[in-house]
Amino acid sequence: MKISVKVPATTANIGPGFDCLGMALPIYNTITIEETVLPGTGIEINVINDENVTNDLILEHVPQDENSIIYKAVELLYNSIGQTPSELKITVQSQIPIARGLGSSASVIVGGLLAANELLGKPADEVALLSIATEVEGHPDNVTPAIVGGLVLTSQEDDGRIVYTKLDWPEEWAITVCIPDYELSTDISRSVLPKEVPMPDAVFNAKRLGMFVQAVNKKDEILMRLALQDKLHQPYRMKLVPGLDKIIENLKHEEDVLGCVLSGAGPSILVISRKNNLDKIRSIVKETWEDLNVKVDIKTLPVEPLGAMVINDEKNS
Ligand code: HSE
Repeated sequence: MKISVKVPATTANIGPGFDCLGMALPIYNTITIEETVLPGTGIEINVINDENVTNDLILEHVPQDENSIIYKAVELLYNSIGQTPSELKITVQSQIPIARGLGSSASVIVGGLLAANELLGKPADEVALLSIATEVEGHPDNVTPAIVGGLVLTSQEDDGRIVYTKLDWPEEWAITVCIPDYELSTDISRSVLPKEVPMPDAVFNAKRLGMFVQAVNKKDEILMRLALQDKLHQPYRMKLVPGLDKIIENLKHEEDVLGCVLSGAGPSILVISRKNNLDKIRSIVKETWEDLNVKVDIKTLPVEPLGAMVINDEKNS
């Protein structure tokens, strides 16, 4: 019995939507869970990099905490139906770069959960899977798009339930993901955030998030240029991502650029633009970072619309 689930990368926050906006991107991890036949062998977790991927940003390893979050997610699912997991071999085939603000943790949590859910005969519905994944990850803005795909506005309510709504990303707008060659853990990136923010900053973001939703719904470039700003997390994280301020400044005068934001907790950066002059936009980011001795992998990607998918079901094999 062996189940594989392919889970997309995600980018969270997207400017004003701290902890509530997220989008799936077509870079994938594949998580396979196999029930082993030998009793007493326990849980084994292996991580391998996809050999077809030549991207030198892919790491040679996945940190131990990534392993334990898969286990925690799988265990919570088993516990929710009164069982405990045993004799499982979990393999992560990794294409999503780690600790770059692209949802690699969310992808393994979601992949482990969905594969285990299939093995168990689907006891958990989408609502339950979203809650368990968010409980392990801590916030829903990566796990929700990883499960359902697309661009989502998502919230964890007081009773733990996750609500989300999908927004349609305008075809006319390009998403350029710029991935630097260093890691930044989400824990460190969250540790620099204040416990409280000034009221004017909260109001600033509330306005921008409203503008963001209306901008994508109406394909309104003027509104989007205003919307892609933030005062809740980016100003505090600037010091952890050297070059971000310069990149934002250098792109500011490019007519086709609608905005430049941190991807999730960083250090990757997203540039939202028209689909014109993409080469120029990519070279501005590349040159600005190279001046600071930072190598960068840059990909212009579409939104991944589908989210996590079971890609083989060998239950009966
Ligand atoms: N919203 C989260 C943050 C995403 O910015 O910390 C990272 O997991």
